[in-house]
Amino acid sequence: MNYLIGIDVGTSATKTVLFDEKGTVIASASQEYPLYQPHNGWAEQKPEDWRDAVLNTLTAVTAKSGAAKENIKGIGISGQMHGLVMLDENGEVIRPSIIWCDQRTGAEVEDMLAVMPRERWIEITANPPLTGWTAAKILWVRKNEPEHYARCRHILLPKDYIRYILTGVFATEVSDASGMQLLDVPGRCWSDEVLNALSIDKSLLGTVYESCQVTGTLLPKIAARTGLTAEVKVVGGAGDNAAAAVGTGIVRDGTAFTTIGTSGVVFAHTSKVSIDPKGRVHTCCCAVPGAWHIMGVTQGAGLSLKWFKDQFCQDYAVRAEAEGRDIYDLINEDVKTVPAGSDKLIYLPYLMGERTPHLDPDCRGVFFGLSAIHTKKHLLRAVMEGVSYSLCDCNEILKEMGIEVTQMMACGGGGKSPNWRQMLADLYQCTVKTIQQSEGPALGAAILAGVGCGIYPRVEAACDALITEKDSTDPVPEQAAAYAEYHKLYQKLYQSLKEDYKILAGL
Ligand code: XUL
Repeated sequence: MNYLIGIDVGTSATKTVLFDEKGTVIASASQEYPLYQPHNGWAEQKPEDWRDAVLNTLTAVTAKSGAAKENIKGIGISGQMHGLVMLDENGEVIRPSIIWCDQRTGAEVEDMLAVMPRERWIEITANPPLTGWTAAKILWVRKNEPEHYARCRHILLPKDYIRYILTGVFATEVSDASGMQLLDVPGRCWSDEVLNALSIDKSLLGTVYESCQVTGTLLPKIAARTGLTAEVKVVGGAGDNAAAAVGTGIVRDGTAFTTIGTSGVVFAHTSKVSIDPKGRVHTCCCAVPGAWHIMGVTQGAGLSLKWFKDQFCQDYAVRAEAEGRDIYDLINEDVKTVPAGSDKLIYLPYLMGERTPHLDPDCRGVFFGLSAIHTKKHLLRAVMEGVSYSLCDCNEILKEMGIEVTQMMACGGGGKSPNWRQMLADLYQCTVKTIQQSEGPALGAAILAGVGCGIYPRVEAACDALITEKDSTDPVPEQAAAYAEYHKLYQKLYQSLKEDYKILAGL
């Protein structure tokens, strides 16, 4: 039997899973790390924390699995998109990574628009200049920390830094590179026009591969450290959303998923490049060679619930500890007892600004309608509903673009919550399904590794063989009707507050 490893370098933790070639989980390990927020709207992590988490979890899964190391053939890496990792000439990290949800680059987005019209940015990179994407972060470092930029010899994305640690190779692949805003997305290669416009030297960037191509093999010292052989192949892998798509079987037209992780994403596969002329949703190359995807992004999805839990739910934490249960299960039990609409309470999930549909780095979270009748349960439900309203905005733009979705899956930590799936089904007015295999991006990355190693002939065939449906949630008409009204008010609230957010940002 052959074995494959999928690594997902997430925002809250790195998860590493060893699968057999039938897709069965043989061993899994995860390691958490902190998120640093030096200022309101800034978000950084230490690449060294990702490195340590990857090496420790890789070592743990190979030891736990009992698989003969010669039979472990390939590794696929997936990870949070858009983060900027800068290395010096010795391959050392220059500064902490500015990650996807960081919103400090409003001025740099203006600079990008000054050197190239918005329409041209959309034509080449399939997206308008975005505060969270890598190009704006590079410009920010060049402007604000010139000494760091001067020392920079390599620019990598989070998972591509891990590839460098594992193989010594500087490379990336099309799905994640799409989120750097330096790629010609229809052409699947670096854009000289964009690099010239921004005066970024192409030699700073890695070679671009397709997601299932082999990019290198393990360095002997890493193989020895992690209990693997130096013959293990490391494939391109994919950004976390493109990898989750493969791990959820979303690899054909008509299929889509909603993931609720730290961010929330509504993602639809498309065999043709399809671009929102208003730039509200992203178009990126997907992990299936020759195909693309469209995705709308909620910046603070699971992040909102985790923030609320960490700040205000010590009582739940104590109970979870005492009863030996998952804190989110306890929260979900209580949330279920509150009616749809949280008794007239609406939450705007803009803790880290918002992407779809507003592209606004300055907006921030709101509880609207607080009354003395509300309890903590109401606030928790309102947080989950607010995230669902935002995801519904993403889904509506996909519909407006004519993307026909016949199958909507739910995944990510939040996708495991029946309450959250019901909210999505009610708001989308469609059936929301789950699959048996819950490893998402790690499974997707392992499948890509299997294709690269010749174990599977193609990505689609591997998904057909390995992925099976589990639950199905249908809309409840009365709740759907209530949510439709709340959603309208939710949408109006942003418009009412838009100018005030700017004032707040300037205080
Ligand atoms: C997608 C995005 C997030 C991150 C973190 O554009 O920024 O989904 O990939 O998971």
